[in-house]
Amino acid sequence: MASLSNRKLLLIVTGGIAAYKTPELVRRLRDHGTEVRVVMTKGAKAFITPLTLQAVSGHPVHDDLLDPAAEAAMGHIELARWADLIVVVPASASAIARLAHGFADDLFSTLCLATDAPIAVVPAMNRLMWSAPATQRNVELLRADGKLIWGPAEGSQACGEVGAGRMLEPSQILEQIQTFFGNTTSLHSEPAATSGALHGCQLLITAGPTREAIDPVRYLSNHSSGKMGFALAAAAHAAGAQVTLVAGPCSLATPNGVTRVDVTSATDMQRAVAEHIGHADIFIGCAAVADFRPVQVAGQKMKKSQGEDHMVIELVKNPDILAWVAAQTPAPFSVGFAAETHDVANYAKEKLQRKGIQLIIANDVSDPAIGFNSDDNTVTAYWADGEQSFATASKERLAEQLIDLISQRYEQSI
Ligand code: C5P
Repeated sequence: MASLSNRKLLLIVTGGIAAYKTPELVRRLRDHGTEVRVVMTKGAKAFITPLTLQAVSGHPVHDDLLDPAAEAAMGHIELARWADLIVVVPASASAIARLAHGFADDLFSTLCLATDAPIAVVPAMNRLMWSAPATQRNVELLRADGKLIWGPAEGSQACGEVGAGRMLEPSQILEQIQTFFGNTTSLHSEPAATSGALHGCQLLITAGPTREAIDPVRYLSNHSSGKMGFALAAAAHAAGAQVTLVAGPCSLATPNGVTRVDVTSATDMQRAVAEHIGHADIFIGCAAVADFRPVQVAGQKMKKSQGEDHMVIELVKNPDILAWVAAQTPAPFSVGFAAETHDVANYAKEKLQRKGIQLIIANDVSDPAIGFNSDDNTVTAYWADGEQSFATASKERLAEQLIDLISQRYEQSI
């Protein structure tokens, strides 16, 4: 886990009964050496006093956008710039709606607009408020804006009901914060090796599945675990490359020294790849990108109608990220994967040509002992005038061998 010492964390407490848990969170953060400043909304002060949070954070609480005394000490813009991370905790339905729609009429909403610090939202509300279509729409807007959503959990609620909407416990929020700093700082805390076959190279890699939303609660996806891509990212880092890993939804730990960018859908993935491709010498498309996505994403949960036994969802093709990368000028040395269930060699060679890439790594996913979700893999790599087969091995071992091959082919291409 990443160290939290000397991190600057701005907690924004909004109105909800779960606010009573925030002093515990502040105390734990301070135990880890984190500097904490607290902002409270008017609603929050109905549940907990500023004095409590001042006592545990060691700093006066900010609660007013237009308070001349507070502005003279540390103004709201300064506060917005000061933070390494902003956590809205608990985030009420109203706070989520205001954030999603860009309000700027109190300290909380203005701060969140006036910052380029990452913002994490920790929802806490009654289960029906959480599942309400308006809240779900707002949460999707926040996700699309790049906000992190932590929770909610399921369980008994202060209102006596049971369901999704409970705030994560302070210990779980602390873990999320540690994971967040682990992911974003690993590049700085552990530089790439100063020697190795890929020393000085920038490598961009996609991994994991993508999720294509059908409605606020359902999606299309596949069984990719992300293990092969994460193992390749780790092996490339060990070989001296600066690695950026664009990961679809998967719960694997970020390899040490690798910069990770989390995405959900194929279009998110393409956007993230487009943002980082300018610096890349090598691109590896290892993600199992969904080929299609629903033409329309329903704003509300789709209901079963009486007497209808069939449902038709119209799909549209997703962008081919790998082919798009390979068509750029200049294009990085591009490597793809081909997961096939039959006629593996022919399909792989055809894909190598069609996508305009330099190397393709093919595996037979009809065998459950290898490929998707398994720990081992057997592959054959093809390039324009050669091929190489690799014996069954753990994905970690195979990743090292594949990175060796990729670095050799890359060297020959420049
Ligand atoms: O066409 P197919 O999905 O079989 O190709 C697999 C290769 O193409 C993988 O390397 C995958 O990461 C990449 N791909 C992509 N964007 C898509 C589909 C596949 O980058 N939309």
